[in-house]
Amino acid sequence: MATNRKSRNNIIFYLVGTAAVGLATYLYLRFFGDYTTGHYFHGLYRIPWLLLLSLLTYLAIRVVNAALFDFAFRLRKGYEAPTLVRNIFTLIAFVILFVVIFNRVYAEINLGALFTTSAIFGVIIGLALQDTLGNFFAGISLHADRPFQVGDVIAVGTQKITGVVEGVTWRAVKIRTFQNHIVLISNSNAAREAIEVCPRENLNARLVFFGTLYTDSPAKTIHIVREAIREAENVSQRITPIVRMRDLGESSIDWEVKYWLEDYAKYNDTDALVRQLIWYALRRANITFAFPTRTLHVERKAPAQLTTGPQREVTDRLSAVDIFSPLSTDEIEKLATGAVSHIFAPKEIVIRAGDEGSSMFVVHSGRVQVQVNDGGKARAVAVLGEGAFFGEMALFTGEPRTANVVTLEETEVLEIGHAAMKHLFDTNPDLAESISWTIAERRAGLQASSQQAAQASLAESAGLLASIKRFSKLG
Ligand code: CMP
Repeated sequence: MATNRKSRNNIIFYLVGTAAVGLATYLYLRFFGDYTTGHYFHGLYRIPWLLLLSLLTYLAIRVVNAALFDFAFRLRKGYEAPTLVRNIFTLIAFVILFVVIFNRVYAEINLGALFTTSAIFGVIIGLALQDTLGNFFAGISLHADRPFQVGDVIAVGTQKITGVVEGVTWRAVKIRTFQNHIVLISNSNAAREAIEVCPRENLNARLVFFGTLYTDSPAKTIHIVREAIREAENVSQRITPIVRMRDLGESSIDWEVKYWLEDYAKYNDTDALVRQLIWYALRRANITFAFPTRTLHVERKAPAQLTTGPQREVTDRLSAVDIFSPLSTDEIEKLATGAVSHIFAPKEIVIRAGDEGSSMFVVHSGRVQVQVNDGGKARAVAVLGEGAFFGEMALFTGEPRTANVVTLEETEVLEIGHAAMKHLFDTNPDLAESISWTIAERRAGLQASSQQAAQASLAESAGLLASIKRFSKLG
């Protein structure tokens, strides 16, 4: 609205001005003009005449300028012509026409010679306009280069003066900072400094940082934070935000969230919104923000203690494992006390084929995949979920690990060592038999999946039984 009113006023002002200058020209010509010679004016009368003609020329150039840039340029390119380009056009057109008019009014003076021979004039002009000309040419090169456009966010120089570009004039690049201040950076400075450009049409990214305690699960943090912010206002839906560990800090896991913005000029608000959403999401998920702390760990001599997870849950988990079903409550509790909990990230290797192994594992939470090497490629043989066990083959037979066991998601496993198992065999002779059956079945599974022709024979569990018994008699 305001711009409309302003341009209407401009047009009225222009029309009135043109009418006034036109009238003045007409009257001057009418009353002082000398029609007897080819030249209308002589002597001092020529000066106002030159001025009036120059004014008329200027007004005519303004019309052409408006027609060219306000209509033709906008129609063709779809955006407003840069002020600098318009000004250069006006200046060049005016200088050319002025020289033509001057030559007509003062036919006896050779303007070209005046300019080219006057070295002193050149030096004076050069020195006086040194900075202005520097800015002017830097402005032209900025326009030719088009490193940024009106509406882009730029950060200039080492001071990182940041704001939205409002325009490039003769003298300076004009930016509006996020405190709504106007900053003018002279064109020559802008041309010298490094400029970081975040184009309006580009998906620009931001980083937001936070820290969590070492006791909180990284996989859970990644999931919770990503889901919390991915649909936030002004966060682009086209690229999923990335949550990643930036550092293992002194008293926190340091995280960074990378997200892309629809409108980069609003990054302060969006950063704030993202931080707020992270706070609420972590609060709901019981994940704690870290702050500088020092934790004093007093280590008590208690062999093989559980590192995480309440004892009760571990006991419940082990009593639900089928091979441990013959065990008494007491024995299960002993086994639970001796078990060591380990937590793994998704896609981590828990057991590597070919390694030596002297313990077995029960999946407490999450899932693992048993994989064999098939011609250089990993092929899945089985997926084991909560309550399943693995690693028993190497433990009881003394042979190397038969397969890779890899986590499919964040997984907690309970490791049961050689000593704890050996103790159980003394009181539960049936245990050896049930384990030997499992091992035989799994071996059969391994052979069948590796396409070996040999039929798996459950009868080999007899041989296994013998080696398991040997295990139970060992040391
Ligand atoms: P181990 O050989 O010690 O290490 C790899 C483990 O993968 C192995 O013990 C078994 O516990 C497990 N495993 C091997 N083959 C299979 C199978 N066919 N089904 C389920 N688990 C298996």
